[in-house]
Amino acid sequence: MDELQQAAKVAFATEFSFYLKSHNFHWNVEGPDFKQYHDLFGGIYEEVYASIDAFAEQIRALGTYVPASYTRFSMLTQIEDETAILPKSVMVQTLLEDNEKTIKILKLVYQQSEANNEFGFSNFIAERIDAHSKHGWMLRASAKE
Ligand SMILES: [Fe+2]
Repeated sequence: MDELQQAAKVAFATEFSFYLKSHNFHWNVEGPDFKQYHDLFGGIYEEVYASIDAFAEQIRALGTYVPASYTRFSMLTQIEDETAILPKSVMVQTLLEDNEKTIKILKLVYQQSEANNEFGFSNFIAERIDAHSKHGWMLRASAKE
């Protein structure tokens, strides 16, 4: 259970970082097709942000506390922080790679959740994997020349 709790916290911090980076890109993207990328990143950050509260409460239901500060997030997240303003093609590629990292940690959490018979939590995580698979499709399709 300790391993599951720890992995869940890492996944949560990663989700929050992914949310923040997609919102960052929604705000800061530039170029002639601004609107298209602004909307692409907008759809992603809104979906991920909408999952954050339920994810945190699932972690509380596992009997542990929720990491909820930038210090804790930076200690736990699998996604690198971005402080530069990137060209839009690099934004898409970066978010695509971060999406893969997010799916990887979510799959690990799913396996540990199943091993601990936390089937409700597994369902929640499976839905997150599904949502990120869809984000991956949109990002890959946008990256294609
Ligand atoms: Fe907006």
